[in-house]
Amino acid sequence: MSFLACRIYKENENVVHKLEQLEIDQLSEGDVLIKVHYSGINYKDALAATGKGAILKRFPLNGGIDLAGVVESSNDDRFKAGDEVLVNGCGMGENHDGGLSQYARVPANWVIPLPKGLSLKETMILGTAGFTAALAIHRMLINDQTHEKGPIAVTGASGGVGSNAISILSGLGFETVAISGRSEHYSFIESLGATKVCSAETLNLSERPLDKALFGGVIDNVGGQLLSKLVAHTQLWGNVASIGLADTHKYNSTVFPFILRGVSILGVSSTNCPMPLRRKIWERLGLDLKPKSLENILTEEVKLSDVSSVFNDLLNRKKHGRVIVNCLD
Ligand SMILES: NC(=O)c1ccc[n+]([C@@H]2O[C@H](COP(=O)([O-])OP(=O)(O)OC[C@H]3O[C@@H](n4cnc5c(N)ncnc54)[C@H](OP(=O)(O)O)[C@@H]3O)[C@@H](O)[C@H]2O)c1
Repeated sequence: MSFLACRIYKENENVVHKLEQLEIDQLSEGDVLIKVHYSGINYKDALAATGKGAILKRFPLNGGIDLAGVVESSNDDRFKAGDEVLVNGCGMGENHDGGLSQYARVPANWVIPLPKGLSLKETMILGTAGFTAALAIHRMLINDQTHEKGPIAVTGASGGVGSNAISILSGLGFETVAISGRSEHYSFIESLGATKVCSAETLNLSERPLDKALFGGVIDNVGGQLLSKLVAHTQLWGNVASIGLADTHKYNSTVFPFILRGVSILGVSSTNCPMPLRRKIWERLGLDLKPKSLENILTEEVKLSDVSSVFNDLLNRKKHGRVIVNCLD
């Protein structure tokens, strides 16, 4: 049986991706064969497929760090044909054939039964972006993030992680300050429940290592100077979740916010999230952390044959919200 996949190669030191017909035998090994219904396109998928980031640990490989689908066959008792499941992260699309494919074969330990309260399609509107936003918020809440501390600043607000974070926080009753560089998407961001939407420039953030506390906490997707400045404006005992590097991987600050205000930087790594915590976050995403505006967050549904143009647009900041891939089409 042959099927379609977006396969990534290294050719003469260049990374290229191709839409290809594969056979099941060519897939990375695993106990569970899944017919993929939906996948999604994350920033990391775009970096991997274009070679703009050194994401792949081996070549060739099917791209895609997320998938949702139906078990076709399983050598593990925990799953049987017909089960609805999802897989996110765990090295898929990095060192194991991923979800931008009509079939995937993965270790049973990576497979998560479809959480109550979510459809297969909804799990991919969330995808790693929604999962990571929820993981960050979960960690902040454990570390005593309260409404009283003040609004949560969310950077890269129109993107996949940012839009999910705003919608989840708004559902939990938190005020949010959505920071976005694209005014054309302000109404989209407002529709997700943001309390205030603005550019970083209009906030007039200080260059000083510690300044007036303006934010109860931060969810950061961009890194660099903006992150450093937001940390300096974070409230006593507030939490700053560091998720992304859409601007840069660099971070330059002082210890003052940590030692004088008790501010915590919380690292968020979706790929390495331990399985018990991963399952718990997915459960919560179907319950109390389910974004109220999930349908709004979905901005596009494309076919596997369209993913190439989405990779480039995503990296060139020409997309917003979440783009999902219908792999059955
Ligand atoms: N730690 C983890 O486990 C994990 C998991 C998922 C994602 N990530 C990372 O988190 C970040 C966001 O991922 P995503 O899937 O949400 O990506 P995305 O959908 O492309 O969103 C990124 C957003 O960041 C802003 N942005 C883009 N380029 C920028 C630049 N040069 N300077 C400042 N802002 C810029 C844009 O928002 P505005 O136009 O609204 O400003 C864009 O919509 C990425 O760096 C990704 O690699 C990390």
